[in-house]
Amino acid sequence: MACVLITGGSGSIGTAVAKELIAKGHEVKCLDLTLNDKEAASYFYAGSILDPFSISTIIRGCDYVIHLAAALGVERTEARRLECLYINIQGTINILEECVKENVKKILFTSSSEVYGNQNITPIKENSPVNPISNYAITKLVGEEYLRAYSARYPIEYTVTRLFNVYGEQQRDDFVVRKFVKALMENKKPVLYGDGEQVRSFCYVSDAAKGIVAALFNEKSNQEVFNVGNDQEPISMKDLAGKVINLYGANDVAPEFIPMADSDRTEEREVYTRIPCIEKAKRLLNYSPEVNLDEGIKRVIETVKRSRDED
Ligand SMILES: NC(=O)c1ccc[n+]([C@@H]2O[C@H](COP(=O)([O-])OP(=O)(O)OC[C@H]3O[C@@H](n4cnc5c(N)ncnc54)[C@H](O)[C@@H]3O)[C@@H](O)[C@H]2O)c1
Repeated sequence: MACVLITGGSGSIGTAVAKELIAKGHEVKCLDLTLNDKEAASYFYAGSILDPFSISTIIRGCDYVIHLAAALGVERTEARRLECLYINIQGTINILEECVKENVKKILFTSSSEVYGNQNITPIKENSPVNPISNYAITKLVGEEYLRAYSARYPIEYTVTRLFNVYGEQQRDDFVVRKFVKALMENKKPVLYGDGEQVRSFCYVSDAAKGIVAALFNEKSNQEVFNVGNDQEPISMKDLAGKVINLYGANDVAPEFIPMADSDRTEEREVYTRIPCIEKAKRLLNYSPEVNLDEGIKRVIETVKRSRDED
């Protein structure tokens, strides 16, 4: 069994990845700024990816690294651009440096569908031309390039997973499914930007975690890029709001439409259609997402309601 360091291990995806690895019998170490889940206390290490000393201490004895720690979310990555550059690029370089020193066998980096920007052809394949239109997307692309460069120079394998709209119970409140649920819980309307016709294909967090872990241990994934998402139920944001309203049981509520110009978004930065082609992951990694959108949204609703009742 392997020892795996997860950076950003307290986050939404990191928590699910840790559970998946532990269920498979692996040893896990998590590096993050704060501990969010008490169950993770025994393998959690407080530290920043901006601090090489923390990384070098924690990485000792690890065979693999899953690098998830990052600045994300529109507010954090556009309004605080320089901080985003620093965390996502310098932080990734720091992790790579310590991987090389520790002779880590392989690093898996979670890049993003954002690197594709707007594409003429969907579903989007891994060999589609990259077209980053946000600060965040550029940092992810730079991270991918650093992995390639380090792997060419040093004896370390790498895999890149480009994640497509992952959602789950522990996601931060500024991400869409949880944001809609929180709005309903606070008797507010879910807010849509522009006409709400933007199309996304949502992937439940445990499915994304399974894809990441499958990619980590499969040698066919070495030096490869994989889309990880769920291609089954593309949905417009308007219909997503309707679905969340319906599953929440708030049928008298209608979403509110806010012009893009009055939000923290811009039309130039908006990606209008984002649907993954996941054939490569299916073929090489046996990846197959299992949780449908209704089921995933119900789980988020239950968790948000439970945390309200506990407060
Ligand atoms: N959620 C998605 O839809 C999605 C899509 C594409 C890519 N990704 C990528 O997947 C990864 C995980 O995303 P998530 O949805 O779990 O986000 P998240 O915000 O829940 O998790 C990120 C974690 O990184 C940690 N972190 C931030 N700065 C750090 C630092 N300096 N040192 C150590 N830890 C730090 C945060 O504390 C947080 O726990 C990120 O790299 C993100 O860019 C996510």
